[in-house]
Amino acid sequence: MISFFVNGKSRQVDVDPATPLLWVLRDVLDLTGTKYGCGIAQCGACTVHVDGQATRSCITAVSEVAGKKITTIEGLSPDRSHPLQQAWIAEQVPQCGYCQSGMLMTAAELLARNPKPSDADIDDALGTHICRCGTYQRIRRAVHRAAQSVESPAAVGGGAR
Ligand code: FES
Ligand code: FES
Repeated sequence: MISFFVNGKSRQVDVDPATPLLWVLRDVLDLTGTKYGCGIAQCGACTVHVDGQATRSCITAVSEVAGKKITTIEGLSPDRSHPLQQAWIAEQVPQCGYCQSGMLMTAAELLARNPKPSDADIDDALGTHICRCGTYQRIRRAVHRAAQSVESPAAVGGGAR
């Protein structure tokens, strides 16, 4: 049995310790917001936080997270109220949406350590995430909007474009 915390709740799973965390989240814990893209740490779709660090769950054995705190897209906020989620909606970022939960988790880690990122900082953090729909420009705008909203909460809303 391997124990850890997911989105603030203690969880225990009885699986092979080598099982990728991604499979445990999706297939055992039914948290399907985290996506499988490549399975080899190349696309970022499977990104979650492990003790606050953006981590590719497809190449992380569940045994590596024993005792740790995991946050998935389902745990980013209870009601889509995280500044990034609000900014994503305002900037109409998602197209097919497949890459977006991983993008959001990496963006959340970025803002936690760098509340005012430059375009270069955003590209550096998110540059290894692949979006087949090409939402990169919108993502940059949304990260800036979220950063502004933390300084001035009125900036979050605004009309969709
Ligand atoms: S599925 Fe993990 S990085 Fe692509
Ligand atoms: S929104 Fe479709 S892959 Fe990124």
